[in-house]
Amino acid sequence: MTDNRTGTHGAVLQDDASTDGAPIVELRGAGKSYGNIRALHGVDLKVFPDQVTCVLGDNGAGKSTLIKIISGLHQHTEGDFLVDGAPVRFSTPREALDKGIATVYQDLATVPLMPVWRNFFLGSEMTKGPWPVRRLDIARMKETADRELRNMGIVLDDLDQPIGTLSGGQRQCVAIARAVYFGARVLILDEPTAALGVKQSGVVLKYIAAARERGLGVIFITHNPHHAYMVGDHFSVLRLGTLELSAERSDITLEELTNHMAGGAELAALKHELSQVRGVDTEELPGEEDLTAPVATGPEGKS
Ligand SMILES: Nc1ncnc2c1ncn2[C@@H]1O[C@H](COP(=O)(O)OP(=O)(O)OP(=O)(O)O)[C@@H](O)[C@H]1O
Ligand SMILES: [Mg+2]
Repeated sequence: MTDNRTGTHGAVLQDDASTDGAPIVELRGAGKSYGNIRALHGVDLKVFPDQVTCVLGDNGAGKSTLIKIISGLHQHTEGDFLVDGAPVRFSTPREALDKGIATVYQDLATVPLMPVWRNFFLGSEMTKGPWPVRRLDIARMKETADRELRNMGIVLDDLDQPIGTLSGGQRQCVAIARAVYFGARVLILDEPTAALGVKQSGVVLKYIAAARERGLGVIFITHNPHHAYMVGDHFSVLRLGTLELSAERSDITLEELTNHMAGGAELAALKHELSQVRGVDTEELPGEEDLTAPVATGPEGKS
């Protein structure tokens, strides 16, 4: 049996020590209702610098609602939300950004036909010359974008190419480097690997780790326990708007995390439903006891 706790990076072994510091962002019993729909309830979460906090959960579990509160899109309706230990209530994403909380949404806010360097500075362009002849400082923007991307280990052939020609994974990486350059302390990534293949997901995971190495606190939203376990220091699993699990890396194995995500009882119910459908041989499906048992990954687990 392999030891899944080793992970792919050295920092995981320090996770207990690094939680001694103060969290940048903290939720205490936080929740959100939309009218009489309670999307989120009683959630505790701490985000520390130099750590990747993974938020996992099925569709509708409340992941996006959680990050909307932290990123300033929505306000919490119960509990407390603290930044640097002080209670806050943001009215706009700009206020969150001013506190160093940057969010990379899955449908990245980029202009596909504009060059990579132009997208890197979108909304915060560098200019030169006095008013009223102030104009874009293209050379400095290109040079800075190139340097910043290289600092993160991202090498692109040509920063003049439209960002739309980059792969989804590369665009995510540019967005991460951009947030780091503009001084983010907390970086929120909403399902950055959801639409990506194995190889591109690996690239994005690498830059999540790179952002942590630069001292950021990363909130990584994902459906995928394998991706979470590759880079995560802390794991919070949401189910139907409440926190089902909150565990440090040292307290949970990949098998346990996968099992939490799979929801053994729900899979059993699904098996029952499938048994009503013609053509599905439920004898072939794993039994209830298999679904709630830890998932075997080693060769010995396969019959
Ligand atoms: N603006 C809204 N008004 C009413 N209900 C909402 C609103 N936004 C979310 N909800 C409800 O809140 C619950 C949580 O939704 P949320 O989008 O946070 O889930 P999620 O975990 O991000 O799901 P997914 O994986 O599908 O993105 C859902 O039941 C959803 O229908
Ligand atoms: Mg969502």
